[in-house]
Amino acid sequence: GKVRAPTHIISTISDDRGEEPCYAGVPMSSIVEKGMGVGDVISLLWFKRSLPRYCTQFIEICIMLCADHGPCVSGAHNTIVTARAGKDLVSSLVSGLLTIGPRFGGAVDDAARYFKDAYDRKLTPYEFVESMKKKGIRVPGIGHRIKRGDNRDKRVELLQLFARTNFPSTKYMEYAVEVETYTLSKANNLVMNVDGAIGTLFMDLLAGSGMFTKQEIDEIVSIGYLNGLFVLARSIGLIGHTFDQKRLKQPLYRHPWEDEWRANEDFITYIGQK
Ligand code: ACO
Ligand code: LMR
Repeated sequence: GKVRAPTHIISTISDDRGEEPCYAGVPMSSIVEKGMGVGDVISLLWFKRSLPRYCTQFIEICIMLCADHGPCVSGAHNTIVTARAGKDLVSSLVSGLLTIGPRFGGAVDDAARYFKDAYDRKLTPYEFVESMKKKGIRVPGIGHRIKRGDNRDKRVELLQLFARTNFPSTKYMEYAVEVETYTLSKANNLVMNVDGAIGTLFMDLLAGSGMFTKQEIDEIVSIGYLNGLFVLARSIGLIGHTFDQKRLKQPLYRHPWEDEWRANEDFITYIGQK
């Protein structure tokens, strides 16, 4: 009888064996003819289904709003230093991407996880925040280096406005707003940040769209899809910073000595105190 050759790789998101490539079964021509956008392509390749327009629009807004946040943030700083060291585009890009993590841009999945869990367990904001404090875990999605209670993050406001206007429910994000009210009563920098807004609103999108089973939502949360939105978005800005440095013919970066002297003086003071 026939013997099937063993499968080396199993892949289920795209297929290039036909006349034209397909994303989750949708042919390229149909993507172009129907005027689909990058939000639709992300829906097909990440979630393996076509999502309603308000969902793909939300994904696109996340990508646009997180594309860049100036040269001073961790990722852009690394990219700029790398580009100025004469490295190529890919090296400069990944150098910036490597800073994305629990403190910077990579708190989206954890924000989704912790806020969903707290909401589903009906914890009050006080119970949630204080239980995190007891465990020594910072609330993901809360806190910012420069944003404050009296200087909110415009990106968060724009995402909230879009979702309140277009989503069937924003229960997880509204819960995060209640948590933010409590954290702001503790310190003025403990605002909801863009990771918190995207994480909680994506939970609202998944639950409210009716397109995902509970099991699929749990899988998305446990695998951790959502930091991908920030990684993808910020790549746009990091690529831009690389080109910018090259265009400006910036020389090798060297950190000002004064900083090091100050660090040494602190060290001497510290040793002196011992
Ligand atoms: N939850 C609880 N307490 C917090 C949080 C938080 N999320 N963030 C800061 N604090 C507390 C700190 O424990 C500290 O208290 P202490 O002085 O009693 O120890 C105080 O607030 C100040 O902390 P700093 O470290 O000075 O705050 P910083 O401005 O450096 O932190 C940061 C900013 C890294 C974003 C922080 O708020 C944090 O870790 N948040 C959670 C992770 C997160 O959401 N990151 C995404 C940020 S948005 C983005 O990157 C696109
Ligand atoms: C960002 O989007 O990069 C920022 O919110 C992080 C920062 O440090 O400002």
